[in-house]
Amino acid sequence: MFAHRTTYLFLAGLLASQTAALGQNPVMTRQDASPQPRSVTLREAGSARRLIIGAAASPGRLSEPQYADTLAAQFRQIEPEIHMKFGFIHPRPGSDASAYDFAPADKLVAFAQAHDMLVRGHCLVWHQRVADWVVGGVAAKTIGSEQLKAILQNHISTVAGHYAGNVWAWDVVNEAFNDDGSLRSTIWYDSPGIGLKDRGTAYIEQAFRWAHAADPKAKLFYNDYEAEVINPKSDAIYTMAKDFVARGAPIDGIGFQAHFDLAFDNPKTLDSFAANLKRFSDLGLEIHITELDVRVNAPNATNLAAQAALYGKVTTVCLQNPTCRVLQTWGFTDKYSWIPAYFKGKQGWALPFDDSYQKKPAYNAILKALEAK
Ligand code: XIL
Repeated sequence: MFAHRTTYLFLAGLLASQTAALGQNPVMTRQDASPQPRSVTLREAGSARRLIIGAAASPGRLSEPQYADTLAAQFRQIEPEIHMKFGFIHPRPGSDASAYDFAPADKLVAFAQAHDMLVRGHCLVWHQRVADWVVGGVAAKTIGSEQLKAILQNHISTVAGHYAGNVWAWDVVNEAFNDDGSLRSTIWYDSPGIGLKDRGTAYIEQAFRWAHAADPKAKLFYNDYEAEVINPKSDAIYTMAKDFVARGAPIDGIGFQAHFDLAFDNPKTLDSFAANLKRFSDLGLEIHITELDVRVNAPNATNLAAQAALYGKVTTVCLQNPTCRVLQTWGFTDKYSWIPAYFKGKQGWALPFDDSYQKKPAYNAILKALEAK
């Protein structure tokens, strides 16, 4: 931001001195001839507040100029929306290179590097999008706990190793808790699990330790949804995080997905959101808002204004938290949001750009919050 401001001032000064030399009125000419300053982007406004503004993205869309231009101009970070998930990146059995499909995610990494952007990795362990060969093997009992442990260790080592130096932060484990705070039953935990069944969060800790061994420099995150406010799920995550920190298990932060609707915008909820983030910050952990979107049931002016207000408030909560370092939306254009499909067409219009890449009120609200002192 400062670099651009300085360049602009320098160019404006240059223009003024040239026109003065031509004997024209420098004030008039400066007003008439100099270009309007480029409007500040989300990524610049975020950087000025030490906040990384990110978006989930898909490599197949980069060939669409408006998609690529908006992504590169407005965002400082990319996270693959699906292409680093197990079933996509490790679709075939085995542990050698032929079992993995790195090309789509590599394309996003190359795009990020070409545009001076960071890459956040998502995700190494999740109960969804597990490759068919793993699910099928477990169902057929050809893969038992011992073998599953070897598969997951190989997966984490290979993927985190492949992106070491290029992915600065990883969602190591995604969505491991139920809403009541109990551990979700998953192929990795207890059905059949990697051999740490009934040992609580030990399997999660094991995944973090493998990720740390594969890329000691990457920051490692636990990521979940509906854990934004203080509730049984965030209590369980807090208990785990506190234990990991106390015992020196390699965890750097918590990702809060933040898939919201307009009901989130009430003082009690927002206070609980801020207080929840603070208790994690107080453990010394970094906070990332990882998948922000605000769904509405119709794109009318009232809803879009309410949506904008909530986007602004979420941005402010993050800015006011001492360790909140990333504010990332799940996609950025309504053209490609996951919401309409997931909510069967009844909800949508959840992102800061509309389906023609025009800035919505939500965009302006984020920017305004970032620029507020
Ligand atoms: C979603 C993607 O957006 C969809 O395209 C895909 O079909 C399913 O997964 N929580 C997460 C994300 O951590 O990985 C999910 O992404 C949305 C919910």
